[in-house]
Amino acid sequence: MRGLFTRKPIAELRDDEDPSPHALKRSLGAWDLIFLAIGAVIGAGIFSSIGTAIAGEVTPAGEVVRYGAGPAVVVSFLLLGVVCGLAALCYAELASMIPHAGSAYAYAYATLGELIAWIIGWDLVLEYAVGNVAVAIAWAGYLDSLLSGIGIHIPPWLVHGYFDVAASSDPTVHGLLTSAPHLAGVPILINLPAFLVVAAVTGLLVFGAKESARANAVMVGIKLLVLGLFVVVGATHVDPAHYTPFAPNGWTGIHQGAAIVFFAYIGFDAISTAAEETRNPQRNMPIGILGGLAICTVIYVIVGIVMTGLAPWESMRVPDPLAHALETAGLPVVQWLVSAGAVVSITAVLLVFQYGQPRILLGMARDGLLPKRLAGVHPRFKTPWTLTILTGILVGVGALFADDDATYDLTNIGTLFAFLLVCVGVMVLRVVDPSRVRPFRVPFVWVIAPLGAAACVWTMAGLPTSAWIRFAVWLAIGIVLYFAYGYRHSVLRRRAASDQAPT
Ligand code: ALA
Repeated sequence: MRGLFTRKPIAELRDDEDPSPHALKRSLGAWDLIFLAIGAVIGAGIFSSIGTAIAGEVTPAGEVVRYGAGPAVVVSFLLLGVVCGLAALCYAELASMIPHAGSAYAYAYATLGELIAWIIGWDLVLEYAVGNVAVAIAWAGYLDSLLSGIGIHIPPWLVHGYFDVAASSDPTVHGLLTSAPHLAGVPILINLPAFLVVAAVTGLLVFGAKESARANAVMVGIKLLVLGLFVVVGATHVDPAHYTPFAPNGWTGIHQGAAIVFFAYIGFDAISTAAEETRNPQRNMPIGILGGLAICTVIYVIVGIVMTGLAPWESMRVPDPLAHALETAGLPVVQWLVSAGAVVSITAVLLVFQYGQPRILLGMARDGLLPKRLAGVHPRFKTPWTLTILTGILVGVGALFADDDATYDLTNIGTLFAFLLVCVGVMVLRVVDPSRVRPFRVPFVWVIAPLGAAACVWTMAGLPTSAWIRFAVWLAIGIVLYFAYGYRHSVLRRRAASDQAPT
């Protein structure tokens, strides 16, 4: 039993000048990280899942899956800013102490032991790979509406995955189950653009981190411009009547809306996975994480206020709610520009998450919890190319068939669980290793960290039962895999065993 909770010495994680052939190139500075954070955070959440957060969701049979927040989505955003701010502080302390590829996974290995670390690593697949399935679907949705605006129509059965169609309460979309072409009695319902964009991003990432960070910086500039345009032009067309009722479903709507639009905040932690490729991570990681989060919170609140002032809240349950709000306000040119900007913004998110996932898996493979041969770094590009391609295949295939709302939920619950464990981990480490140098310290840690943990649980409680069931199944599969593979191949456990063996 004790072996299950073996902790990895932090000194071992701080192998700044790792001489092994698996070492990555250190090329990223503080601004690269802030741009990576904004690139990761502003995307499908604010452009797409916000619609469900405002208007709620019902099944094709008319049962309520979740209540919408209405214009009070702004309150949801503010609450989430607090939730994520608390968790971000904990992330920043751990990321600055432990600059090593692997994100919350590496932190957990140092604080809570191997089994919990594996569970977090497995759980982070929900945040990164599964999250990117939803992001790719949102990307395809905006591409579709962008192309429609210039008269190019993709056949609907090529932009809606099977599970998306099966869950939709929109009769036109749901009707595709019968109207789509069939093969051997099975409807052909795939999201081809979502698959193709994942393939393209994967190719880009195989060629190197710095080059991709530059591409990301350009995309971040475009997304800030486009949201700025939305706010400035939209603000002049706000109809205050749309703000009444402000919270049509009361506290329940605000809570359940927050639980789905939490997706819009996911990503500030993604940059912690780049610690190993960061110059002076002790200084740059906290600046990147907290700076990125603060900028995004301000933007969301402003966008939320303008958006809910442009159209009735019930009408927002569409795949492209920002474009819909502008259309309702009679602003077609801005609508088109914003749709184009959404496609760019969401691409940036895809890039950062496809970048982060292989680096977490790389940490796990180096530790022997996944097969070591996956840990190869490309000799010329210095990127974890095997795992990058593997991630691309998993996300691309998922995006072909999945339902976006169910995917948002699963991603959110998995991410919140990881945040929860990071908040706990920071406290554990303060107790078991109080004298360790902490380049960034959480202020009032015994208030901030427990509050952060409670805030994560509160947000998780706003998700539907289906999300909890899927999450439990996912964790159960992970635990079986650990005992089938990682338990026997763990480098740390093997070393501990050989140290104890008689000589
Ligand atoms: N926060 C990211 C997005 O909204 C995941 O797309």
